[in-house]
Amino acid sequence: MKVLGISTSPRRNGNSDLLVRRALGGAESADAQVEYIRLSDFKIGPCIECNSCFETGVCVIKDDYQILLQKILDADRLILATPVFFMSVCAQAKTLIDRGQCLWAAKYILKKSPVGEREDRRAMVIAVGGSKSKKQFDCIRLIMKIYFDSLGVRYESNLFVNRIDEAGDIEEHATAMEQAFKLGSALALRQCIERDRPVDVELF
Ligand SMILES: Cc1cc2nc3c(=O)[nH]c(=O)nc-3n(C[C@H](O)[C@H](O)[C@H](O)COP(=O)(O)O)c2cc1C
Repeated sequence: MKVLGISTSPRRNGNSDLLVRRALGGAESADAQVEYIRLSDFKIGPCIECNSCFETGVCVIKDDYQILLQKILDADRLILATPVFFMSVCAQAKTLIDRGQCLWAAKYILKKSPVGEREDRRAMVIAVGGSKSKKQFDCIRLIMKIYFDSLGVRYESNLFVNRIDEAGDIEEHATAMEQAFKLGSALALRQCIERDRPVDVELF
């Protein structure tokens, strides 16, 4: 069981970064093999909409995306953590997601799966926002759903935390770190519970 945690915040030791590391701790406690990466350590440019992937299912841009994509495809579980930026994922996360156009093309145009026959791949999203707007995670839910669909990964759970702004404030939250650990550990379990929507944990 390989669990890959991707921290997309530009802030090292930021709130979502601390949460994804805690979630990986939970996965590790459930005997998973975990890997943590910071997206900022990879050089990944935006999709240039050349549509070459419509013919091949492969992205033609030569940068670190191929390394990262291989890690994503090799993982049984994925945890993607992002701060809320203007009601959406941060630009770093969006760049990674847009490069997933080659996955979308492979699946929906070329009708082939980039992950072959491998099943039971699941993903969790962690997002932290400074405000307490009722709709601040709506956009993230939609974006992550279409991304995970393209990847052929089941959208398993969300951990959304409101009203956390300064870097490291999350450690003062009464339950967020513990919830991250629990959801990370649950994600690594092999039992498959069929659900029509992700488990949602939203904290205030
Ligand atoms: C460019 C930018 C845009 C932001 N937009 C929002 C927003 O739309 N809603 C919100 O609640 N917080 C917003 N914030 C605040 C961050 O979500 C908040 O500080 C969060 O804790 C950062 O998480 P991180 O430490 O994981 O990077 C924004 C911050 C920045 C820098």
